[in-house]
Amino acid sequence: MGTPVTSWALVAGASEGLGAAWAEGLAAQGHALVLVARRPEVLEALAAKLGARGTEVVALALDLGAPDAPDRIAQALEGRPLDVLVYNAAAAPAGPFLSMTPEQTRAAIDVNCRAPVGLLHRLLPGMVQRQRGAVVLMSSLTAFQGTAYTAVYGATKAFNLSLAEALWAELEGTGVSVLACCAGATRTPGYVKAMPDGAPGELAPEQVVAEALTALKRGPLMVPGLLNRVVAFVFQRVLPRRVTIKLMASRTRSLKP
Ligand SMILES: NC(=O)c1ccc[n+]([C@@H]2O[C@H](COP(=O)([O-])OP(=O)(O)OC[C@H]3O[C@@H](n4cnc5c(N)ncnc54)[C@H](OP(=O)(O)O)[C@@H]3O)[C@@H](O)[C@H]2O)c1
Repeated sequence: MGTPVTSWALVAGASEGLGAAWAEGLAAQGHALVLVARRPEVLEALAAKLGARGTEVVALALDLGAPDAPDRIAQALEGRPLDVLVYNAAAAPAGPFLSMTPEQTRAAIDVNCRAPVGLLHRLLPGMVQRQRGAVVLMSSLTAFQGTAYTAVYGATKAFNLSLAEALWAELEGTGVSVLACCAGATRTPGYVKAMPDGAPGELAPEQVVAEALTALKRGPLMVPGLLNRVVAFVFQRVLPRRVTIKLMASRTRSLKP
């Protein structure tokens, strides 16, 4: 009998909120985990919790916006064949575009766009070679139209959606699936800070991940939560685009920076 092969999953942006829910969900499916986030103490606490349940965890504290982040993650994965890549982290500057600094918007582009593309360059070839794997790019309902008061964040989420859809088509038949998870309001620490008064149809991170895991092999995109699916349908297919954009702006105007 050979040694059982460990199935590894990477969660980029894993310490809390949706990222922690992804780590928990993938651990429950039997994956060993490489978890990435900036704050070592929060990351280590999650790693210890999952480790106590028998999951093998490698915790990697780094900033995904740093130019060498994809290389450092790829190095940590050497000898650990990757079956699931979840790109979850996002920088989400909020407020009118004119109030933002170039540094803030550059950070959003670095974390939300450059880093996932860099990781895909390094990690997809191995998945295609082994003819197995799944990629999840966390996107958002903000991907479906321009979203005022978080304009650059929304544009990066449209980038994530477009990238996932294109790769889904290119990789058909390779054994590697690609999914954009277009989440709506989800009660995570980041969301609660930005929207303390909440929003209709909020979901728990665990529900978003459970629905996304079910859709993992289907792709190319999914919207968690029935109300979010109805809203997405009405916004995209029923209302004139100008009305949709203004409705979104009326929701995001109150986002806290
Ligand atoms: N929450 C929502 O309502 C909502 C709605 C739609 C889409 N989404 C999407 O879902 C994803 C997760 O959202 P969330 O609300 O869970 O976010 P969050 O509360 O801000 O958490 C993000 C996670 O990523 C890590 N992270 C953030 N920036 C990082 C960086 N530069 N380098 C490394 N790690 C980083 C954070 O840990 P550290 O701070 O320790 O680095 C944390 O573990 C995002 O892609 C977001 O666009 C969320």
